[in-house]
Amino acid sequence: MTTTPENPTIPPQDALTQALQEKARDNLWLHFTRHSGYFGPEPDPVPVIVRGEGHRIFDSNGRSYIDGLAGLFVVQAGHGREELAEAAARQARELAYFPLWSYATPPAIELAERLAHYAPGDLNRVFFTTGGGEAVESAWKLAKQYWKLSGKPLKTKVISRSIAYHGTTQGALSITGIPGLKQMFEPLVPGAFRVPNTNIYRAADDLRGDPKQFGRWAADRIAEAIEFEGPDTVAAVFLEPVQNAGGCFPPPPGYFERVREICDQYDVLLVSDETICAFGRVGGMFACSEMGYVPDIITCAKGMTSGYSPIGAMIASDRLFEPFKDGANYFPHGYTFGGHPVSSAVALANLDLFENEGLLENVRTNGPVFRATLERLLDLPIVGDVRGEGFFYGIELVKDKNTRTTFDEDESERLLRGFLSKALFEAGLYCRADDRGDPVIQLSPPLTLGPADFDEIEGILRGVLTEAWNQL
Ligand SMILES: Cc1ncc(COP(=O)(O)O)c(C=O)c1O
Repeated sequence: MTTTPENPTIPPQDALTQALQEKARDNLWLHFTRHSGYFGPEPDPVPVIVRGEGHRIFDSNGRSYIDGLAGLFVVQAGHGREELAEAAARQARELAYFPLWSYATPPAIELAERLAHYAPGDLNRVFFTTGGGEAVESAWKLAKQYWKLSGKPLKTKVISRSIAYHGTTQGALSITGIPGLKQMFEPLVPGAFRVPNTNIYRAADDLRGDPKQFGRWAADRIAEAIEFEGPDTVAAVFLEPVQNAGGCFPPPPGYFERVREICDQYDVLLVSDETICAFGRVGGMFACSEMGYVPDIITCAKGMTSGYSPIGAMIASDRLFEPFKDGANYFPHGYTFGGHPVSSAVALANLDLFENEGLLENVRTNGPVFRATLERLLDLPIVGDVRGEGFFYGIELVKDKNTRTTFDEDESERLLRGFLSKALFEAGLYCRADDRGDPVIQLSPPLTLGPADFDEIEGILRGVLTEAWNQL
């Protein structure tokens, strides 16, 4: 065993890891993370991820894990893609940075054209940001300004769904429907209202057996909220194609058709927040096309570059851009790094990979196999529901399958935070155990996976969930 001069008992790799973990504990502020576990008499080490290859990630101890969440719903094409690293380097050498403030760059132009090409209907106008929350923020601001310029200045309010996550900036957080994430920052931007989501597993008894009827009911809650607030005051409805928070709620049949109808009836903009669902996550380049509706705005980010560089976008219809062609009108809004040339170049290379490697086709072909593999877990007493689309699934955990009884706060804390997240990671699967709604495990791997990988994921989940049940 080789050792370091400072500490003759610790091998150099371990010493390096330990040093990194100490620096992380002392200086790094992790996002959405309780830091208490990293201090105290028996502190947990901060996991340090150093490398990725395909759908596997490696920690500083050299252990490898399946990346069951594509980082954070991001790494569609997998880790370690030379083409994407090369595209970034090439663009950085050519022109590392220039803003989109009255000037344009070739990669941003090409990417805007490409996104407009993929987007449905007349969604042809691309406003770049650096991420999803900024795209949501931009969409609300655009909606407000569009209605002002269109002679309907009272239309400022927005509607979104219970437990939906739309970002953390004050506007996007207002739209977010998770009370626990908001309370510390209230008062937030006024004018955001919530309607029920499409969690059919928890629907009323008379609706649960009839998805179409449930879809109609859920969509009509949007009409009701618009009526309650006054149609003249409502600017937009923000919906994800498949809602992430709460554990992957797909739209019931007919839901978006009815939502589109309602938005048209009340002259309210429909924003499809595809921060997660775009770029193949549920099969199409944009999920709205896959699900048969045309929104007025798409917000997207994450998978656009497979995470090799950050970028986001708000894609608006021609109609919304129309008033901005006139006189002194302009959108007084922007970001220094929005549409960064390096990120735009990487996005173009990433979209080439999608086409050359048939990533969308892989999701369309293997999505049902992934679902069927995860559904095998329904034989476990702790697994209440498996739901989702494409390469995006939530597994809801319950205390009693027959009654659908969920865990109380204390059990959920012990199960998710105390046991599951760590046990899954230790068993070689990085994924997410989430209790922003009812407790769920979420899976959203790179889009390159196939049946053998699904089996491996199912095997790990089966072992850990069996152990979790035994510990209850
Ligand atoms: C639907 C949705 N909207 C917005 C966001 C915020 O995106 P970002 O973290 O890039 O700001 C997320 C992030 O997960 C999201 O899932």
